[in-house]
Amino acid sequence: VTVAADARARRAPRIRPARLKDAQGLAPLCGQLGYPSTPEEVLARLRRILADPLQAVYVAEIPGRRLVGWIHIFPHVTVESDPCAELGGLVVEEGQRSRGLGGRLMEQAERWARERGYRALTLRSNVLRARAHAFYERLGYASPKSQRVFSKPLRPSR
Ligand SMILES: CC(C)(COP(=O)(O)OP(=O)(O)OC[C@H]1O[C@@H](n2cnc3c(N)ncnc32)[C@H](O)[C@@H]1OP(=O)(O)O)[C@@H](O)C(=O)NCCC(=O)NCCS
Repeated sequence: VTVAADARARRAPRIRPARLKDAQGLAPLCGQLGYPSTPEEVLARLRRILADPLQAVYVAEIPGRRLVGWIHIFPHVTVESDPCAELGGLVVEEGQRSRGLGGRLMEQAERWARERGYRALTLRSNVLRARAHAFYERLGYASPKSQRVFSKPLRPSR
């Protein structure tokens, strides 16, 4: 191993499970995904997710503790289909893209799902994210159908 390769390995992001303390670092990445969020909002969401043993969030951290990516997976359980693992979100910091980190986060999510017995990993991606679609196809993901999303704001019950 060369000295340069050694130095590169030391700078390479490390992938590890997320902790509540990561909320501050994850918030700007939510913005880069298109969902501007405050650290407080992310903390409240992380509290629920990390308290649920059926879900997982992994972060990519570079030495110096800066977070440059995250991935969230959870079970999609329905009456009509066998459970599968589903991607809740994936983002790599703008300056760190196209270096394989997104692929590594996907590998981690697939490993998590396989180890828990899931037979498939599913994800939903906005029709506008053409580059992300090429990324998923390269990783072996096919898109068997398209869907429309419906949503309605609900008035609080009290
Ligand atoms: C999609 C994404 C997670 C891939 O991460 P990455 O670390 O760049 O992935 P890799 O280096 O393993 O693979 C690179 C490929 O990802 C895709 N990609 C690269 N930059 C991208 C960008 N700005 N936006 C979307 N996709 C991109 C391309 O297919 C790219 O291939 P190329 O480098 O040959 O053009 C990352 O680009 C990203 O965070 N994009 C914005 C948020 C997003 O679209 N998330 C997915 C939501 S479904």
